[in-house]
Amino acid sequence: MSAPAPRGSVLATRLRAVPWALRTVAREVASRLHGEPPVREAALRWARDRANPGDPASVLAALDRFAVERRFLMNVGDEKGPLLDRIVREIGPAARILELGTFVGYSAVLMSRHLGAAGRLVSIDVDPESSRVGRQVADLAGTADRCEFLHGKSTEVIARLEGPFDLVFLDHWKGLYLRDARAILERGLLAQRGTIVADNVGPLFGDNAYVGWMRAREDFDSEYVSGHLEYGTIEDGVLVSRRRPGRA
Ligand SMILES: C[S@@+](CC[C@H](N)C(=O)[O-])C[C@H]1O[C@@H](n2cnc3c(N)ncnc32)[C@H](O)[C@@H]1O
Repeated sequence: MSAPAPRGSVLATRLRAVPWALRTVAREVASRLHGEPPVREAALRWARDRANPGDPASVLAALDRFAVERRFLMNVGDEKGPLLDRIVREIGPAARILELGTFVGYSAVLMSRHLGAAGRLVSIDVDPESSRVGRQVADLAGTADRCEFLHGKSTEVIARLEGPFDLVFLDHWKGLYLRDARAILERGLLAQRGTIVADNVGPLFGDNAYVGWMRAREDFDSEYVSGHLEYGTIEDGVLVSRRRPGRA
């Protein structure tokens, strides 16, 4: 099945995003001038002050509120998040999940809350602060026992990972989606019925070579799901690619 093309031109979307980008930068600068900690640490403290320990939904709600009321967080967010949530629930509690891009652990908590004892989530981030905060956010949510937070460049960590994974969530540096997805497939890290979800492939992010490459593959069914950039009204989209049975 071919997926619909992302709507909206890159230039028009980027022009529409300018006021939002300026507001976001101004808010971030003002927070730092007022002596607030860097954004990951600030989000962690906010969640600790407001969420109920052991209650993932309250942790996610606190992080959503921080992003809306305080400072922007590049989480998958509360609009695209439910799609990811649904896919994990479809796979079941024994799902093995690989995530590229931890940030503050929002999507790690969103997905790992559905895992049972046999499930596992591995989340990779190049920023050690993300791995630290992600682990502590998962700790707060009570899902840390199912999660492993690895610090390192995705490409280097993928080279030593053991799979297979039922779900791969690409949400790190957009220019690395193609290279890392290729490596994941070449290393046999995706299960026979595995799914790859790629966030931020909407027009704001330009023409990502991963999208054309994946949509042209006959061993995957890909669907572009249109939505908005987290916590806002700028168009964004997710590419969901499910491996066809018997084509591994
Ligand atoms: C969009 S955020 C991830 C958001 C997270 N998945 C969520 O929805 O809650 C992107 C993250 O990717 C990380 N990143 C960027 N390049 C990377 C790379 N080459 N390897 C691993 N992580 C990378 C950044 O440090 C950042 O924390």
